Amino acid sequence: MTPSHDVVLVGGGGAGLRAAIAIAETNPRLSIAVVSKVYPMRSHTVSAEGGSAGAIGADDSTDEHAYDTISGGDWLCDQDAVEAFVTEAPEELLRLERWGCPWNREADGRIAVRPFGGMKKKRTWFAADKTGFHMLHTLFQTSLKYASVVRYDEWFVTRLLVDDGRVQGVVAIDLQSGKIEAITARSVILCTGGCGKIFPFTTNASIKSGDGMALAYRAGAPLKDMEFLQYHPTGLPFTGILITEAARSEGGYLINKDGYRYLQDYALGTPQKEPVLRTMELGPRDRLSQAFMKELEKGRTIETPYGHVVHLDLRHLGEKKIDAKIPFVRELCRKYQNLDPVKDLIPVRPVLHYMMGGVHTDIDGATPLAGLYAAGEVACVSINGANRLGSNSLTELLVFGARAGKAAAEHASRNLEISQSVLGQARDEHRRIEQELLNKKGSERIADLREEMQKTMEESAGIYRTGASLMKAVDRLRSVQERYANVAIEDRSKAFNTERVSALELSNMLGVAETIVMSALRREESRGAHQRTDFPKRDDKRFLGHSLVHRNPDGSARVEYLPVTITRWPPAERIYGEAAPHGGSNKAPGSSLPS
Ligand code: FUM
Repeated sequence: MTPSHDVVLVGGGGAGLRAAIAIAETNPRLSIAVVSKVYPMRSHTVSAEGGSAGAIGADDSTDEHAYDTISGGDWLCDQDAVEAFVTEAPEELLRLERWGCPWNREADGRIAVRPFGGMKKKRTWFAADKTGFHMLHTLFQTSLKYASVVRYDEWFVTRLLVDDGRVQGVVAIDLQSGKIEAITARSVILCTGGCGKIFPFTTNASIKSGDGMALAYRAGAPLKDMEFLQYHPTGLPFTGILITEAARSEGGYLINKDGYRYLQDYALGTPQKEPVLRTMELGPRDRLSQAFMKELEKGRTIETPYGHVVHLDLRHLGEKKIDAKIPFVRELCRKYQNLDPVKDLIPVRPVLHYMMGGVHTDIDGATPLAGLYAAGEVACVSINGANRLGSNSLTELLVFGARAGKAAAEHASRNLEISQSVLGQARDEHRRIEQELLNKKGSERIADLREEMQKTMEESAGIYRTGASLMKAVDRLRSVQERYANVAIEDRSKAFNTERVSALELSNMLGVAETIVMSALRREESRGAHQRTDFPKRDDKRFLGHSLVHRNPDGSARVEYLPVTITRWPPAERIYGEAAPHGGSNKAPGSSLPS
């Protein structure tokens, strides 16, 4: 019999589990399936390090959190979504504590908060530098309380079932047995995270292959702001492993090959003895990654076998502070770089970290396709605009995971029938997978195609782009797509056929890569993380809007624009360093731009 639930969640990370809890609390009668290609505690949320933002300090306010987020996003954030986000952020973080999350505390018992890039107040809650691990544990153990939550661990979703203009379930492969099954539902929530593996150097786990974005796009839901990709300025060379921004927030410096704190040359403030919020090393990630590229051009970086790097210097912090506040940084450096940050410099480079764009949703996670919702990195609500501030994403998955869960529960509580025709679609999908991925003899190696895609994206759609480089990427990706039709899968087994999964993931990544390049090509301006050297200025007249990329019936991409929602903070110049403006206060709701 076809498995059937009221709501199917695709993805069992932070957003998925938060949504599952919200559904169970909204309507305890609903049956909830969490379908995840990995065991939930292996989801990428587990590797988040530095913290989760929410205004809590006596000197802070939700308005200031909103202003930092909106200016950090270069005015591309939807301000109604940001206002909901900053208001619900502290409530969600406190709720998580009640569920067991061990937030660091000050000696007097108050929640400890640390500064983070682009935020001018300390508002990042943390659990040492393993925040994602503790948050995911908390959500996972809480989800176990609800008998209505059924898990499909290690099931890979290949298709959304759509009939009568609404999503009615998914088709998934049970990776253990190889069985391909339909799972029907009245609501489906995508919580599959981002797509960092499209790029060669990334902090992202191998599982982050844009699956949810590809599923939604193929089913007819548009993707929003796909040209905005975040490079994190401090990844380890080769592995791409994240060295958290918390290392800089605790006082670490970035220095070039001459030992010079080069960020002072990039309008991010001047060197300070102690870290001063929003200056230099605590500038926003887009600006720091761009500064690295400028240093590279000037010949002031250090060449290594795995590309050029600069150095992160933590030595002056001392062993005690490093062990107390950023022990994981030390552990990672020892294990993966064979060095000790207490006495050695850490080589770092910008690596792909996060996707600002994603499946287009409203403020409750609803996509334009009835019954389909999305939350977390896979979604674009949008609170991140053209550049996300570090530590907003963990909070985003709580706030919008909960909102999407509630909305999907309400939708699933309506008496909607599952059409018979979706079972026919599931049979078609079964045949497609068997024919294309089990019974075919191709000659193109998955690894070669993936490498060509990753190289193309880094060279043509990386930190700086031009129309010409993006056009070249269109051609190169097209050629990889053509070669993919002849992909070789030698493993004919059904149980844990990882070769088949890799081929499906590659297909998803190729689809998503095309939407990134097409959206980047259309946006003839520079804003946040999208820097076109042929259009170096922000152009609010033409481009103060979200790109929406739709899939045409012939499979090609079509880019349209949607206005940005501006409520209280009209577009202004982004300024960092000591002269950075302040952003409103709770005491004066309705106050807008800084003077
Ligand atoms: O550096 C970090 O810890 C990353 C945090 C984030 O992306 O929010």
